[in-house]
Amino acid sequence: MGMSVTISVATEQDAEQIFRLQYLCFQSEAALYGNYRIDPLVQSLDSVRAEVAADCVFVARLGDEVVGSVRGALADDGTAAIGKLCVHPRLQGHGIGARLLRAAESALAEERGATKFRLSAGHRSEGNLRLYRRVGYEAVGTSQGEDGVPMIVLEKPAEAYAATA
Ligand SMILES: CC(C)(COP(=O)(O)OP(=O)(O)OC[C@H]1O[C@@H](n2cnc3c(N)ncnc32)[C@H](O)[C@@H]1OP(=O)(O)O)[C@@H](O)C(=O)NCCC(=O)NCCS
Repeated sequence: MGMSVTISVATEQDAEQIFRLQYLCFQSEAALYGNYRIDPLVQSLDSVRAEVAADCVFVARLGDEVVGSVRGALADDGTAAIGKLCVHPRLQGHGIGARLLRAAESALAEERGATKFRLSAGHRSEGNLRLYRRVGYEAVGTSQGEDGVPMIVLEKPAEAYAATA
């Protein structure tokens, strides 16, 4: 369809666009759960800035516009928590979400030594759960965030990336 979306590491200058994009993208999740206090909607711009500085954050760009984002952070036990995957509603369904996820996974494995990836999805977010299963994640349990939405926790081993490091 002639669109050229590129994936790259987020810079400090992207924080504000990521902040606005996630606010837009997660409205559909908030509506699904009738809960507008979910983490991506209440996160402050300063907190997004801190994540961009410390964590493994990627953006999808179309020209100068940030049209997608994902974050990953490594814990002491080698597990990388991946979250806040989002793609602008007008560009969803073209594989950008899967590309962002792959970029975060390979950076977390190859640059930060992650041995396992973990993410969670709202229990009724069928499209999200389908996407994660398709790229190799399996449900390992459930959790409940501060916002009260029941989440399904999914994991995937990072072995596939270690071999190419
Ligand atoms: C979740 C989200 C990031 C996915 O982004 P995306 O770019 O649409 O993801 P993809 O395009 O990789 O995959 C979505 C669907 O498009 C399909 N798709 C992928 N590439 C495609 C292509 N080239 N042509 C047609 N369809 C395609 C996939 O098969 C998938 O279909 P499925 O829903 O039947 O499994 C996006 O929907 C979003 O921002 N949602 C709101 C925020 C959110 O819920 N985030 C996740 C929290 S857990």
